[in-house]
Amino acid sequence: MKILAIETSFDETAAAVVENGTNALSSIVSSSVLLHKQFGGVLPELAARKQLDFILPAITEALIHAFPQPMDTFSLKECIETNIDAIAVTDGPGLIGSLLIGVEAAKTLAYIAHKPIIPVNHVYAHIFANFVSLETLPSFPAIALVVSGGHTELFSMESPTNMTWIAGTIDDAAGEAFDKTARLLGFENKGGVAIEAAANQYIQANSGFSISLPRPLLHDDTLNFSFSGLKTAVLKEWKKYPEHSHQEISAFSYEIQESITDVLVKKTLKAAEKYSALSLFVSGGVAANQRLRDKFLTSLQHINYSHMQVFFPSKNLCTDNAVSIGAAAFFLNNVQDWRVITAIPNLTIEK
Ligand code: KG4
Ligand code: ZN
Repeated sequence: MKILAIETSFDETAAAVVENGTNALSSIVSSSVLLHKQFGGVLPELAARKQLDFILPAITEALIHAFPQPMDTFSLKECIETNIDAIAVTDGPGLIGSLLIGVEAAKTLAYIAHKPIIPVNHVYAHIFANFVSLETLPSFPAIALVVSGGHTELFSMESPTNMTWIAGTIDDAAGEAFDKTARLLGFENKGGVAIEAAANQYIQANSGFSISLPRPLLHDDTLNFSFSGLKTAVLKEWKKYPEHSHQEISAFSYEIQESITDVLVKKTLKAAEKYSALSLFVSGGVAANQRLRDKFLTSLQHINYSHMQVFFPSKNLCTDNAVSIGAAAFFLNNVQDWRVITAIPNLTIEK
């Protein structure tokens, strides 16, 4: 089954063709992130306008990559009619203006090419990125950690299609904590990436200068996360260093990354023990962080956890993309009539 997948929930316009949920035949991601730089955050109106500019080129490119043919004879309608079995699209959560562009494009294509349409919840899609390129499915039960800019959620999974939300953040998401603290340190955008790069410089410099930050909720009894206090702790500490030197910025970056990753790993392993998990799936933008990956891999070398295996999507499938949407659509297969599908900015996960 070949699915044309579309993702436009935020500032990325993505299209992909995915075969049987695991084989990405193409993946195109256009981003308006740099255009928002001057505004200090993503401007929804501008993001929606850029979605409009990018959507048809992205879909066209995804189809041409998957099914090579000369551009001058290419017909969107015919290509979909001949090669595609269903169209998948993110219906939420996200920015209403951005979501509407992808949803309306998907509905139009489904209508003109007579294809079924599968709406996908963006948060679940992050989990299915873990299955892309796998030859065989992992062992279950599993614990899935989705750790992105808007979400930090733990799910227990009995099978690829049977998942239950078990815990999440009670305030900020982990990615939000990276982004907000990065802004405090003077980084303009792509907070997580900037902090990871500065933390690596800190490790290389080996200067001996260090600062100390809390690990929120590390030792409490629940599986919940809380990251808003970290931002306050960073702000308080940061004021003690008015010079804001390169060395200080990198030392703060290192400690912020240590704090967030320590908590993510500890709570996920706690959930894994509680639910007797055999596999761990870690995905979402923050799963692109190498330190987080290394901490999981090192933890699983411990005798108590050696029966478990940890999975991460390739780094380009951690951040927003359409391959994850196509994978989720294949496994969840929630086919609907195009007439009833609509953009739902505050679409929730089942709790
Ligand atoms: O999944 P994603 O692309 O978008 C949402 O669904 O939110 O995640 C974006 C988040 C941002 O907060 C970004 O700072 C974070 O993922 N992120 C990272 C890294 N790359 C992206 N955080 C830490 N380390 C990274 N390398
Ligand atoms: Zn996302």
